[in-house]
Amino acid sequence: MPLIDLRSDTVTRPTSGMLAAMARAETGDDVFGEDPTVKRLESMIAERLGKEAALFVPTGTMANQISIGCQSKPGDELICDPQAHVYLWEGGGIARFWGVSTRTLSGPEGVLDLPTLASAGIRPGDHHYARSRLLCLENTHNRAGGRVLLQNQIQAMCDWAKTNGLARHLDGARLWNASVASGLSLDLLAAPFDTISICFSKGLGCPMGSAIVGSKALIEGDAHRLRKAMGGGMRQVGVVAAAAIFALEHGYMEAMATDHQHAKTIAKSVENSPGISLESGLPETNLVWIKIDPRLGSAQYFARRLKEHKVLVAPLGEQVVRACTHRDLSESQIKVAAKAIEQTAESIWSMSP
Ligand SMILES: Cc1ncc(COP(=O)(O)O)c(C=O)c1O
Repeated sequence: MPLIDLRSDTVTRPTSGMLAAMARAETGDDVFGEDPTVKRLESMIAERLGKEAALFVPTGTMANQISIGCQSKPGDELICDPQAHVYLWEGGGIARFWGVSTRTLSGPEGVLDLPTLASAGIRPGDHHYARSRLLCLENTHNRAGGRVLLQNQIQAMCDWAKTNGLARHLDGARLWNASVASGLSLDLLAAPFDTISICFSKGLGCPMGSAIVGSKALIEGDAHRLRKAMGGGMRQVGVVAAAAIFALEHGYMEAMATDHQHAKTIAKSVENSPGISLESGLPETNLVWIKIDPRLGSAQYFARRLKEHKVLVAPLGEQVVRACTHRDLSESQIKVAAKAIEQTAESIWSMSP
């Protein structure tokens, strides 16, 4: 039996239709601005997100970091929650690349809200302090269980940020999932922000690629310059952009509803199993964060035992694993994985003292 890989939605392989589209792609040197397929993808994404322009970059991390770099100066301060990808999982890039300090604020249930933000406030306009400059939110929020942020909360936080002179960036690596789960359009979800990063390499199933979306001035000015400086200027990269165009034109975004359904199936098996529980309640999208009771052993141990059933999950903390559904998994594979999770938990539980 082949492995059922629930570690991430980035493990998906291009479909044959996608590969054929990549092979047919018209290309040119994108550093010279001469790749027609990249240009087409960029205008498609800008239009779908209701912004003026977009820039194709290799990864979501680069999209986030360039967005931060464009909207801050050394000595500035960025505000986000402590579980935000930009802060937690981007190699300290905020400090490393931009000399920007981060103020993390914890909201209820792992996501920021207006009361938390407003009661912390921005730094006083006194030269002793860092200048509060940028608010970063994440939708869906990976570490908070793939949760879709409430749009009225997002709007309220962004209004507050704007009033206080902060730029607003959205890490929208999985904005597709947020749109499908909430029924809200991408442009509505993106509207309160100055910049948005979005990934093609996750639920859409493309081999790589992300985009930064924002104003024409920001994209054509600093974002282009920083992409070059970070080594993200690519040449005949239309071959990859073609994969994203294909996915968007063939309903791959809409198909994420199936991934969300599959995540609920996995979640139910967690609820039925001894010694494991849902860290963030029932999943709204495709991420299931599973807490492992120490009596079962560590997250690493649980993942190893589950692998004996040919099911892979990602141990992403001492006592937590993540199961992520994606388009390369069928309903029958999800059922097998759900059963394997129950069997693994039961088997370890029955042996625990
Ligand atoms: C919320 C979020 N933002 C950004 C990224 C970074 O994307 P990449 O792996 O393409 O750098 C990820 C990757 O998993 C993510 O989950």
